[in-house]
Amino acid sequence: MEVFEAIKTRRSIRSYTSEAIPQDEISVVLEAARWAPSWANTQCRRFVVVQNSETKAKLADALTSWNPAYKAVKEAPIVIVACAELGKSGFYQGETVTDKGDWYMFDVALAMQNLTLAAHSLGLGTVHVGAFDAQKVAQILNVPEGVAVVEMTPLGHPAKEGKTTKRKELSELVFHESYGQK
Ligand SMILES: Cc1cc2nc3c(=O)[nH]c(=O)nc-3n(C[C@H](O)[C@H](O)[C@H](O)COP(=O)(O)O)c2cc1C
Repeated sequence: MEVFEAIKTRRSIRSYTSEAIPQDEISVVLEAARWAPSWANTQCRRFVVVQNSETKAKLADALTSWNPAYKAVKEAPIVIVACAELGKSGFYQGETVTDKGDWYMFDVALAMQNLTLAAHSLGLGTVHVGAFDAQKVAQILNVPEGVAVVEMTPLGHPAKEGKTTKRKELSELVFHESYGQK
């Protein structure tokens, strides 16, 4: 699939079949994440691939009560949890160098967007899931101190297509020469 087509046609998938995913496809999506850029190539992201049903159920229970991805996390054949080693991205000689502090969220997001696009190009579904109790997930997965749990995505064959979503027009998003200037 061509890159722009993948970007435009990827949708959040919240309903999955139980069909297993071949190991080589799992490797492709993880490779896509691995090759994402990062601050000074510090590569702070780490990924936990969860296939155990009990662990998936525990992860689903860590989601906010209203989270529409609950069933997806519980039932997809795989859940990938993205974490980040803190104190690397956005740092120079041990100090943060911008007003943003630690850039780990940014680096994880780049990797996870690569991962979701690669999955989509293979006909697999994903959904970025951020609304959960990260401390609970850290406990479930034995994530050590100094590593933040950032997001998770189910990975599997879509049982249903994702809902059509809209985007703001470019005219609302893009300014010319100075902020606010259309
Ligand atoms: C950082 C982030 C966090 C998200 N968290 C959740 C979540 O907790 N649960 C969920 O069902 N969807 C979540 N989403 C998915 C968004 O709702 C979805 O991407 C958005 O509605 C656009 O739909 P699309 O992905 O189909 O284009 C999240 C997306 C992002 C980027």
